[in-house]
Amino acid sequence: MARGRFITFEGIEGCGKTTQLLLLASHLRHRGVTVVTTREPGGTPLGERVRNVLLDPQLSPRPLVELFLLEAARAQLVADVIAPALESGKFVLSDRFADSSLAYQGGARRLPRATVQGLNELACAGVVPDRTLIFDLDVELALGRARERPSTSADNRRFEDEVLAFHRAVAESYRGLALAEPARVAIVDAHGTPEEVHERTLAALAGVLP
Ligand code: TMP
Repeated sequence: MARGRFITFEGIEGCGKTTQLLLLASHLRHRGVTVVTTREPGGTPLGERVRNVLLDPQLSPRPLVELFLLEAARAQLVADVIAPALESGKFVLSDRFADSSLAYQGGARRLPRATVQGLNELACAGVVPDRTLIFDLDVELALGRARERPSTSADNRRFEDEVLAFHRAVAESYRGLALAEPARVAIVDAHGTPEEVHERTLAALAGVLP
């Protein structure tokens, strides 16, 4: 059986990537494609517990500890969900993946890139996205949305509470990733209606979709 396809959705909080992931999943399912959707941090029972720890504003993990937690959840997700789905020919869509660690822990928390890259490689065990989409939206607009959404609450807003400069550094780092790996990483303009962004998403996935 042919290996499946792996598409990852990236961007700062409030950029609309989750909405776009759901729109693409439904587009593919209407065409008879078997789709697995997942998210990071999370996607497994263990990963979802780690997610709660990572997002809790009461805790202050050091940058390296934050990275270890993310990579632990990632290793479990790759082994339990992503690699088996790809091996059985499925389409996997993930709301964030290893590039998030390069942008957040590398770009914004300033951990050495080689450290993040090395742990990413260990956790991903050879799994690399076929295409990564970075949804690019004005940072203040995105952050305003993220802070207002009903799912953002007192016990999960540790990243939303970071200052604007932090989110700008994340956005800048994402742009660098797209420049460094243009064949895999594409920037999608996330301004406009969900339908308009969906059309751009489909265009950015030319050659990857069935
Ligand atoms: P979400 O809001 O997109 O669900 O992501 C949860 C938070 O986790 C988000 O604020 C960014 C953060 N994060 C990292 O800092 N590094 C990572 O590698 C991942 C996967 C997420």
